[in-house]
Amino acid sequence: MDKLKDTIDILKEYNQEHIIKLLNNLDEEKQKELIKQIQKIDFHQIMELYNNTKKEIVFKEGKIEPLKYLDKEKLSEVHKKRLDELGEKIIRRGKYAVVTMAGGQGTRLGHSGPKGTFKLDVYGKGKYLFEILAENLKEANQKYETTIPWYIMTSKENNKETEKFLKKHKYFGYNKEYITIFTQSELPLVDEDGKLLIGKDFKVKEASDGNGGTYSSLRASGCLADMKERGIEWVFIGSVDNALLKMADVTLLGLAKEKKVQIASKSVVKANPFERVGVFCKMDNHPKVIEYTELPEKMAEERDRRGELKYGESHIMCNLFTIEAIEKISKEPLIYHSAFKKNSYIDENGKEVIPEKPNSYKFESFIFDAFEFFDDIAILRGKREDDFAPVKNKDGVDSPKTAKELYEKFWERNKENGKL
Ligand code: UD1
Repeated sequence: MDKLKDTIDILKEYNQEHIIKLLNNLDEEKQKELIKQIQKIDFHQIMELYNNTKKEIVFKEGKIEPLKYLDKEKLSEVHKKRLDELGEKIIRRGKYAVVTMAGGQGTRLGHSGPKGTFKLDVYGKGKYLFEILAENLKEANQKYETTIPWYIMTSKENNKETEKFLKKHKYFGYNKEYITIFTQSELPLVDEDGKLLIGKDFKVKEASDGNGGTYSSLRASGCLADMKERGIEWVFIGSVDNALLKMADVTLLGLAKEKKVQIASKSVVKANPFERVGVFCKMDNHPKVIEYTELPEKMAEERDRRGELKYGESHIMCNLFTIEAIEKISKEPLIYHSAFKKNSYIDENGKEVIPEKPNSYKFESFIFDAFEFFDDIAILRGKREDDFAPVKNKDGVDSPKTAKELYEKFWERNKENGKL
């Protein structure tokens, strides 16, 4: 079959005629590459995502209610011990694995590399975010006399740089046999009229499809099969940008086991109604997180009888799953959210256009949108000063400065007996 003709037909069918002239004018090699890329795109899906951007997000308010949680601080000593023992047993038996979502770049921090390669100015010498995570896991390994398999998700954009960085730093002393680096998938960007953007390299511009892509990427990369082979039963999935992330919290693990649930998550109390975190709730009797970008103002400010925020349990990207849960989710499509962003592109004549205002949609699925596939979730409320030191913005809240303070204070408090 004539691939060029076939590709042109596809472009016409999905109103992407602006690419045809470019395609015809490309040299043979570049043309081949662009054809190959276009043939792989699921245009039906992209057009559906684009059409969704024109619809408003509506919440059926009557069906939303707060989600129950257990406060770690308020657990009785006996109960806490029981949970810890349950969790510890799983880790000691080698049934526990950890995934770090490191597909993001440090752009918001003013750092040009992968976010995990950002160095936090702690204790004079400083520590890289990847180094902090490695130290946390090494400590768990020592405590529970095991080596936890560590899977690191990168994006197409930062995969090579991440691999190079970790190799250069000798994986911060982590046993390489237990580290697997994999790559998440991407989706094309579309402009306000549903047209695909073409980049300077004459390829369709694509971007990471959000951290919800973790599940399917775990499967497609073979990591899920590898976990099964290693006999893993529980998988923790966390972010790269929380300097106080506890990746092997035995209380959380024990709670999930005790409650016989397939998913569990740690929360902290929201600092204020408009803190940029997702919040837990129950929708139509299923667990859910509403992201800060989509939380209606009224709901954000709503308080209960005790004067506490009704939706005040923050999602801090500290999520736990059974291997069966990951398997199930990896086969189900997640919903996509869109973000309107500035993206440069080349026009029909090959001239680069650098927009001054947002011009295109990026589609992302979110890790927590899978929670609603389950009837229940175990939520363990932790403490902000122990569990949450996000590194998001260059200055102000959630910046390297606030994370450094939280990190150093934590270690000062726990100097004597390092607390996981
Ligand atoms: C995220 C959460 C939010 C939570 C907050 C806590 C989502 C969608 N939002 O917000 O609910 O309250 O953290 O700090 O999860 N990542 C990838 N691939 C991607 C996109 C992101 O690996 O395609 C990774 C990042 O490297 C990072 C994490 O996901 O480790 C968080 O991503 P980001 O998009 O920065 O989310 P936030 O807005 O910080």
